[in-house]
Amino acid sequence: MGKTEQILNERIKELTCLYEVSSIIVNADAELLQDTLKAIANSLKKAFQYPDKTSITITNDKISTSSEESIQDTVTIYTNINIFNESRGKIIAHLSTSEFKKEDFLEEEQLLLDNVALKVGNMLERIEIQKNETSLKRQMERADRLSILGEITAGIAHELNTPLTNILGFSELLKSDVKENKKALTDLDKIIQNTIFSREVVKKLMFFACEMPQEMKRVNIIPNIKNAINLLDATFRKEQVKYIVKIEDEELWLRADPIQLTQIIFNLLMNAIYFSPKDGLVIIEAIQTKNNVILKISDEGDGFTPEALEKVFQPFFTTKPTGDGSGLGLSVVHGIVASHKGTITAQNKPNKGAIFTVVLPKS
Ligand SMILES: Nc1ncnc2c1ncn2[C@@H]1O[C@H](COP(=O)(O)OP(=O)(O)OP(=O)(O)O)[C@@H](O)[C@H]1O
Ligand SMILES: [Mg+2]
Repeated sequence: MGKTEQILNERIKELTCLYEVSSIIVNADAELLQDTLKAIANSLKKAFQYPDKTSITITNDKISTSSEESIQDTVTIYTNINIFNESRGKIIAHLSTSEFKKEDFLEEEQLLLDNVALKVGNMLERIEIQKNETSLKRQMERADRLSILGEITAGIAHELNTPLTNILGFSELLKSDVKENKKALTDLDKIIQNTIFSREVVKKLMFFACEMPQEMKRVNIIPNIKNAINLLDATFRKEQVKYIVKIEDEELWLRADPIQLTQIIFNLLMNAIYFSPKDGLVIIEAIQTKNNVILKISDEGDGFTPEALEKVFQPFFTTKPTGDGSGLGLSVVHGIVASHKGTITAQNKPNKGAIFTVVLPKS
C-alpha cells in the first residue's frame, strides 16, 4: 500500500467512526448509557491505526467502560470529557507497551479522540438536563397534590373545630348534672378526653394547612434550636439515643415565627428519636449561606422505603403502629416551612438512616 493511500485509508476510518458515533448518540437510550458508551468505545477502536492492538476506555464519575475486558501495561493518549465546562471524565486509547511507544499514536488519532469526547460530553449534558427536568416536574406535581390536600384539610378542620368545642363544653356542663352517678362521670371523662385528643388532631391539621396565625419577626434561631433540644433532652435519655449539635455560628438570624420554628425542630427530632436504634446518634446541624439558613437533622435508623420517601409529607401517612402516631407531624412541618417560603427534603443517608434538610430564606 502506498503512503498516500494509507493516509487516505486512515482518514476514511476516522470519518466512518465519527459518523458511527453520531448515529449511536442519536439513537442512545438514556437508561442504557453503559451500552452506548461501550458501542462508542468499539467504534473508536476500529478507527485506530492498529485496531487489533488498541483498546479504548471511556470513564466518567459514574460509569467506566472499555472495549476490552482487561487492559494491562500500556502506553496511552487521552482526552477529557467536559460536561457543563467541567472536566468530568476521560476517553483513553491504549496500545500495549511490548510493541509500541507513545509516538506510534497519530496526531489525527488524538484529534479524533477530542472530537468524540466533544460529542459524548454533549450527550451527557443533554441526559443530565433531561433528568433534572423530570425530577423538577415530579416535585411540582407533589407540591400541587400537597397544596390541594392542604385546602381540603383546612376546610374539614374548620368545620370540626366548632362542634368539637361544643361537645367539650356540654360534656363539662353535664358533669355537674350527674355528680351523683359515678359511672356516668367516668364515661363523661372519656368523652372529654377523646374530644380533647380530636381537637389536638384538628389543631395539627390547621397547622399543616397554615391556618394558624403567624407572627413573623427577625429572630436569632440558635436559642430556639437549643430550646427545642432541651425540651427533648429527657426523651433522648429515656430512649437511649445520643445526639450532637454542630453549629459554628454564634448567631443565625432569620425572618420567622419563633414558635413555629421550634415546632419544626421538635417534630423532626421526635421522629429521629422514634426511628433511632438504641445508642443511635442524631446529628443536628445548622449552617448559613448568603441567602439561607440550612438545618439538617439526621439519624441512624432504617431510613425510608421508596414508598415512604414519596409520601412522608402527606397528612395521615404513618408507618407507626395505630395509636403511636397520627401521621401529621411532617405535614405540619411541611406547611410551616412552605409558609416561610422555604423547602424541606427527606433523603436516605448513603450508609444508614434518614436525613431531613430544611432550607429557610433569611428574609
Ligand atoms: N427519621 C425518620 N426515619 C424513618 N422514617 C421516618 C422518619 N421521620 C418520618 N418518617 C416516616 O414518615 C412517616 C410520617 O412522619 P410524621 O412525623 O408525619 O408522622 P408520624 O411520626 O408517623 O406521626 P406523628 O408525628 O403525628 O406522631 C413516619 O411514620 C415514618 O414512616
Ligand atoms: Mg412524627
